[in-house]
Amino acid sequence: MTLQFSLSQQSPETNTAPCIVVGVFEERMLSSAAARIDEKSGGAIKRLIETGDISGKPGTTHLLFALPNVAAPRVLVVGLGEQKKFDAARFQRACTEMARALKGLPLESATTYLTEVDVPGRDGAWKVRSAALSADAQAYKYTATFKPREKSKSPEFAALAFAAAETANGALSQAAAIADGVRFARELGNLPPNICNPAYIAEQAQKIAKDHPGVSCEILEEADMRKLGMGALLGVSQGSAFPPQLIVLQWRGAGENDKPYAFVGKGITFDTGGISIKPSAGMEEMKFDMCGGAGMLGAFLAAVKLQLKLNLVCVVPAVENMPGGKAQRPSDVVTTMSGQTVEVLNTDAEGRLILCDALTFVQKYNPQVIIDAATLTGACVVALGKHATGLMSKDDALANELLAAGENSLDRAWRLPLWDDYQSQLDTGYADIANIGGKYAGAITAGCFLARFTEGYRWAHLDIAGTAWEEGRKGSATGRPVPMLVQYLLDRAG
Ligand code: BES
Ligand code: MN
Ligand code: ZN
Repeated sequence: MTLQFSLSQQSPETNTAPCIVVGVFEERMLSSAAARIDEKSGGAIKRLIETGDISGKPGTTHLLFALPNVAAPRVLVVGLGEQKKFDAARFQRACTEMARALKGLPLESATTYLTEVDVPGRDGAWKVRSAALSADAQAYKYTATFKPREKSKSPEFAALAFAAAETANGALSQAAAIADGVRFARELGNLPPNICNPAYIAEQAQKIAKDHPGVSCEILEEADMRKLGMGALLGVSQGSAFPPQLIVLQWRGAGENDKPYAFVGKGITFDTGGISIKPSAGMEEMKFDMCGGAGMLGAFLAAVKLQLKLNLVCVVPAVENMPGGKAQRPSDVVTTMSGQTVEVLNTDAEGRLILCDALTFVQKYNPQVIIDAATLTGACVVALGKHATGLMSKDDALANELLAAGENSLDRAWRLPLWDDYQSQLDTGYADIANIGGKYAGAITAGCFLARFTEGYRWAHLDIAGTAWEEGRKGSATGRPVPMLVQYLLDRAG
């Protein structure tokens, strides 16, 4: 369950919420809500600043109890850093730290006044939406595969109110829809691959259709894909005991003649590498190799919840990449649905093989734009690290729209070139295209491979290999690029 969000127009000192949240900058600069609480309580906050207990440094929080003349029993003071450096990213960080502190307290609800602090270039609606999403991201907890615990008796953080004018009301429903989409994507990503196999993802997509009028879902089975000539997709899946599934979701929020936006997401439920098998260290993280598919389904779900006035088609090839007696071999040549042949020189470059057939397939819906998301290359992580999604497109307008949506939602991408100069790295003597491009520019040559299957379309590729999950034993799927894509659609739907 996502957090419940609401707006509050109460003044901080009379608010009877179990906890109110106020911000303090470094160098003794109080936000206006903090200043009012300080004044009413006879200088309770300033005294703690004098003693050095409250520094205002970013990432810090302090909980104060029972301040005189303040109705709320708790005041959480969040450090905002230097006032002149305060920006959207610092705001998001403050909201994240706020939620981290709140979820550890024995309370169900709180009101935050952080949304009253000025953020350069952002309006009230943005602050509410962004605060809500940061808080919900903190509140999410993965529990699916633990022994069920008795429900704890202490109250759990479940509702957050934002100090903001009524005009920010629309931001609440936007935030709730995006939070649902992000949670959906994170949960699918986090589930283990023995549970989250291709059929499981297909079931989740069917559930979206069942639960939402206006959504239709079609699942193509192996035989259907064979008929369509999806030799590249089937080549990847042939080593797995799980049959492949091609998921197609459609949302009709606009007229029949409106060309749809098309989302395509890589849904490799586990990537062993196949016969070109991966080293064991870290291989468990390849359960996240379906995060492109999960992200596209999550963005689709949010678009439906927002009832966006546009048409949207979402295609997710869900496939497992395994070695075995039936697995494809390096040097196999497969024929794609487009008719182009591919020499599979490395069975670990499987994402592009399932995506190329999905990208050809989606063209039957006559889309106005095609966007794919994929945990496609380790090279993208080398180039951009864990912060920026790799964006590739030959369409400058589309690329700029996605970059802007990323900046707006703080789910940012950075563009890499897709120049034809790189295309010759995919040449081979045995097929139209090789599935690997050599040691240089691995993220770009993967993009160049996909470009061969999207000619004539406005198309962009998002490599989310670095951004889709956090590393480590306790690392979790992030839900990226759901915020960016929903923002992109919101900007288009008007
Ligand atoms: N799913 C991986 C990419 C990946 C690796 C994502 C590590 C996140 C972290 C993809 O299928 C893959 O194996 N790519 C290969 C391509 C290579 C064989 C050309 C890679 O990046 O090493
Ligand atoms: Mn791989
Ligand atoms: Zn992969």
